[in-house]
Amino acid sequence: MADGDIEMETRLEDEVAFEPPEEFVAQANVSDPSIYDEFEANWPECWERAADLLDWDEEYEQVLDDSNPPFYKWFTEGKLNASYNCLDRHVENGDKNRAAIKWEGELGETRTYTYQDLSREVNEFAAALRAQGVEEDDVVTLYMPMIPELPIAMLACARIGAPHSVVFAGFSAEALATRMNSADSEYLVTCDGYYRRGDSLDHLGKANEGLDGVGHDVESVVVVDRLGGDDFDRDLRDNQHDWDDLLTEHDGQRVEPVERDAEDMLFLMYTSGTTGQPKGVKHTTGGYLSYAAWTSHAVLDIEPEDTYWCSADIGWITGHSYIVYGPLALGTTTVMYEGTPDYPERDRLWEIVEKYSVDIFYTAPTAIRAFMKWGKKFPESRDLSSLRLLGTVGEPINPRAWQWYYEHVGNEECPIVDTWWQTETGGMMITTLPGISTMKPGAAGPPLPGIDAQIVDTTGDEVEAGRAGYLTVNKPWPGMLRTLYNNDERYISEYWEAYSDTDSDDPDDWVYFPEDGAKIDEDGYITILGRVDDVINVSGHRLGTMEIESAIVGVEGVAEAAVVGGTHDIKGEAVYAYVITEDGYEGDDDLHERIIEGVNDAIGPIARPEEVVFTPELPKTRSGKIMRRLLEDVANGDELGNTSTLRNPEIVEEIESKVNAQSD
Ligand code: WTA
Repeated sequence: MADGDIEMETRLEDEVAFEPPEEFVAQANVSDPSIYDEFEANWPECWERAADLLDWDEEYEQVLDDSNPPFYKWFTEGKLNASYNCLDRHVENGDKNRAAIKWEGELGETRTYTYQDLSREVNEFAAALRAQGVEEDDVVTLYMPMIPELPIAMLACARIGAPHSVVFAGFSAEALATRMNSADSEYLVTCDGYYRRGDSLDHLGKANEGLDGVGHDVESVVVVDRLGGDDFDRDLRDNQHDWDDLLTEHDGQRVEPVERDAEDMLFLMYTSGTTGQPKGVKHTTGGYLSYAAWTSHAVLDIEPEDTYWCSADIGWITGHSYIVYGPLALGTTTVMYEGTPDYPERDRLWEIVEKYSVDIFYTAPTAIRAFMKWGKKFPESRDLSSLRLLGTVGEPINPRAWQWYYEHVGNEECPIVDTWWQTETGGMMITTLPGISTMKPGAAGPPLPGIDAQIVDTTGDEVEAGRAGYLTVNKPWPGMLRTLYNNDERYISEYWEAYSDTDSDDPDDWVYFPEDGAKIDEDGYITILGRVDDVINVSGHRLGTMEIESAIVGVEGVAEAAVVGGTHDIKGEAVYAYVITEDGYEGDDDLHERIIEGVNDAIGPIARPEEVVFTPELPKTRSGKIMRRLLEDVANGDELGNTSTLRNPEIVEEIESKVNAQSD
């Protein structure tokens, strides 16, 4: 262990809590601790504070309608438009020349859009979408990497009241088709390609393959020319249009923002769950946008004058809420970076912080662990003194990584917010407030004001401080999902059934279950322990083990497969696949290769197994259930749990010795 590490570990042992710096507190958006009591005493009207951050075309009548749980309605009868709130009102308020988006491409190109510029392009693209036939409530799929046209397309959809469904660009053709089919989406916006570590990738080829798998007519496809050259065959199909041509056609056109009901859908976002089918999480215009704006204000401490950067990808919920909607609703400058953190050098992110004088930086623990591994010389080589606040999201952050971030990025002068939330929650739920709370590395913090979270046992009783249990949310909140697209039944069974009395229409009998394990300490600080369902978290990406298993079982020569998450230094968790071959097939390099390809094709490279272990059998109980827990023990190199309930206990050691042999 290096000297620095020893010093760090010792300090961590004697200093387990940190206070926010006075200078930060003095300027914080929220710094009065009475906010917790105030929200509790005044619930649900406390949420007017969130709604007040927006401009409404028509005032809402009721903050919360909870007459039909768990189908809650927020800000009923209120009318507003999300694109108006993210653009027009800032232009009208005299901020038209403020930068809205500062974009940096992987190759170093930059583009700045002022609020005026952004508004212009959003209007033109909204006009173009209309001309393509997009009507209010039509779902438009956006399959795009981190280029400015993605937020432009999102806001154009919002402007005309067409919900968007963004599909992460790293997902496969098949994943795109599944999502377009599920949402009956007849419109797609995509691009020709993009850059990764300096190489151009063919994205349109993948999009076209996905389109071939869509079971209904696709009316129109818009293709952004990102590569600007002839790297790939760029022949557009009959229903495909070039983005620039459409903007030219609609040059200078303005589209009135459509008045949307607070409860009208703003977007759909597909996410992984327990079954093989991704879930279409539905978010609304009033509740979601208020909540994204409120948490950006209270937790990220965003001011319009700030330059704010969230390094997530807009293909995930974090980018929706905290690159696009929250920051733009508040009228700040949001930075977008196309590429990877280590291209061309491992100081790329710090170079960007220095170049743009970033005030607030929000990233994922997996990135911090990679930075730690690369070493402090990279952040130290850049001027990071503009930073005021740091944040993390996506997975638990271990205290050492927290400390490293605090010292080497924040120079011990920036509070860190470790924010727990989910695609389904729309925005942050459990985190410290940076201008108020003591920080405890490793613990996300208390629930936010107005959020009622508990840690309970299997029967729903609260567990004692220090004990592990299940996280529940016992009251609704404005940013919550409203349902799963076209599937109210699954909405109830996935999120509510576990701890609710589903026959009751009393909202107190309804409890939201996020499917995370957690513990709570005497001060009410919550430490998230990870998923308790069949979802694994690889580098902050949420993946369903069932989805990966079905991809593997689809490969010729595979009879059965079980996938679990094993701990990984950088990724947090990595995919371990245990595979039984069909008669006549060998578990050889060829099959291994085809399994990796199968997962790439069905989901994308993010889901690629770290280890593929061929085995004659899987550990099963007498009733035939696969004992995943034991497979996790093997993946983690942990002592094996109890094998006595197994039909075939000897197989576990056999698998273990194979894994050990493979990792040697
Ligand atoms: C995990 C990402 C610990 C958790 C916004 C959750 C976290 C899942 C944290 C949601 C955190 C997110 N500490 N775990 N600060 N934030 N998680 O839907 O397991 O992609 O259920 O949303 O990530 O992942 P999702």
